[in-house]
Amino acid sequence: MKRIGISTGGGDAPGLNAVIRAAVKTAIHHYNCEVFGIRDGLDGLLFPGGVIPLDFSSVRGILPRGGTILGTASRANPFARKVERDGKVVIEDVSDQVYESIRAHNLDALLLIGGDGTLNIARKLYDLGLPVIGVPKTIDNDVGGTEYTFGFDTAVGTAMEAIDRLHTTAESHHRVMVLEVMGRDAGFIALHAGLAGGADVILIPEIPFTRSAVCRKVTERIRNQAFFSIIVVAEGAHEAGGEKIYTRSGDEIAQARLGGMGAYVADFVAQSCQVETRVTVLGHLQRGGSPSAFDRVLATRFGAAAVRAAAEGKFGHMVTLQCGRITTVPLAEALAVPKRVDVYGDAIQTARDLTICLGDG
Ligand code: F6P
Repeated sequence: MKRIGISTGGGDAPGLNAVIRAAVKTAIHHYNCEVFGIRDGLDGLLFPGGVIPLDFSSVRGILPRGGTILGTASRANPFARKVERDGKVVIEDVSDQVYESIRAHNLDALLLIGGDGTLNIARKLYDLGLPVIGVPKTIDNDVGGTEYTFGFDTAVGTAMEAIDRLHTTAESHHRVMVLEVMGRDAGFIALHAGLAGGADVILIPEIPFTRSAVCRKVTERIRNQAFFSIIVVAEGAHEAGGEKIYTRSGDEIAQARLGGMGAYVADFVAQSCQVETRVTVLGHLQRGGSPSAFDRVLATRFGAAAVRAAAEGKFGHMVTLQCGRITTVPLAEALAVPKRVDVYGDAIQTARDLTICLGDG
């Protein structure tokens, strides 16, 4: 192994730079390799100057930095890319160009860091015969085959701090504060931040909610002289028999954008419980900023392990955390079943034991 490429794809997550730093250091120090960063997802393979050399000086000081020094692209799938042809926007498969570019750059290994979108692309590139290793990232923690993705712990910390802040103002004004957090299909951020911040109601995509269950909890608290409540809502939560709420519909390339469930919950609670409600949408604050210690360590372990996996020729695999140990799993296996909150698991049971309303019942 002489030349390694690194790319970060999809939405950013705190810890991406820690992976890049660890991979660069391991590859140069331990394997005497040359390392190249691909800019803006895989787009850098398609434009001049999009592949840049990375050395010790390129990664100096980036461990605590959020974002990614390589840039990322959320909608840059080479198998379905939006391009302009004769003034018209069309979808094209440019994977052959990506393939050629990887070959032309003589990359013996390509580390693709991303969530399920990017990892699916990684798997397809591997199927074309490219030497790809996946590194799982997402604040949502919804990638299968790994106990944790880096970025999640930092996002939970940010959401927990928001709940702490909302608590003091909720209590002072006797209000119900609704916090909408990210979580498209998985409610890990809402559940963990809600537990850490002492929420009264936690609504997640895995457990459809009823208005009556939510309002019952709020009125019961008022009856017990607790004149405020904190409700944490994952953006992908939905009412039993209802739909998720979107602010923008998707198309062949862009996913539909979720948002508005917090406001929806605040409205019906205000009307049914006769209380004042306010909504905070935490949004991309959860994606930005410096990674937590846990995420720095996990991302660093993933980065070093990805280079080791490449050296061992474990292409088509993804590095993963299982039972506290870093190992690898075939991408196909990891992507077969997306990770979701186990509704019969210990965290949910704990929430129920603490009389936190999960919107059902
Ligand atoms: O996948 C992570 C995530 O944070 C989702 O929870 C959210 O729906 C999505 O990214 C938003 O991404 P963007 O605004 O970059 O399209």
